Amino acid sequence: MNKIGLFYGPLGGSVENVAKKILKVLGEDKVDIISVQNATAADVNKYSKIIFGISTIGSHTWQRETPSKDWDGFLQELNHIDYSNKLIALYGLGDHLTYALHFVDSLGVLGGMLIEKGAHIIGQTSTEDYDFKDSDAVIDGEFIGLPLDEDFESDKTDERIKNWLDRILPLFE
Ligand SMILES: Cc1cc2nc3c(=O)[nH]c(=O)nc-3n(C[C@H](O)[C@H](O)[C@H](O)COP(=O)(O)O)c2cc1C
Repeated sequence: MNKIGLFYGPLGGSVENVAKKILKVLGEDKVDIISVQNATAADVNKYSKIIFGISTIGSHTWQRETPSKDWDGFLQELNHIDYSNKLIALYGLGDHLTYALHFVDSLGVLGGMLIEKGAHIIGQTSTEDYDFKDSDAVIDGEFIGLPLDEDFESDKTDERIKNWLDRILPLFE
């Protein structure tokens, strides 16, 4: 399928709001947004251009603390995705003030799992525009995806999304 498949979780919060923002920017002819809650690897395998959206709930990783239930269930599906000929971009919601030492950690956990499986990840983001102390999402000196903070930097979200899409869309072509 030539459309982008945007798989996100959890439902009903900032991650979903960002998925809807991306849908609004790109339009329904370019992207499908799908909750990970009921998605399977077979659903992901229909797409060659993928965006995953996740939030960090828990001061360490969502695997050990209170995980996003949606993603917790979907993680098993990552083992059944065919990563050849796919480009994957990631965004992650977090809070850079309250959780400065664990900023968007889940983005890094998910990114690390995908790297281990040989996924081709695009859309890495410079840490320059962000004020935080530590993050598992910094891999090889840059964020593995796009961090967003709707709690304390919501005024930056639209521009961050726009700049990120400007970078990844040509790669998706
Ligand atoms: C209990 C709890 C723990 C959190 N832990 C982290 C964290 O470790 N790192 C981080 O960057 N943000 C953390 N956050 C902030 C959330 O990631 C942020 O509010 C995000 O926008 C939530 O998106 P969602 O509503 O789609 O799940 C936490 C929020 C809550 C309520």
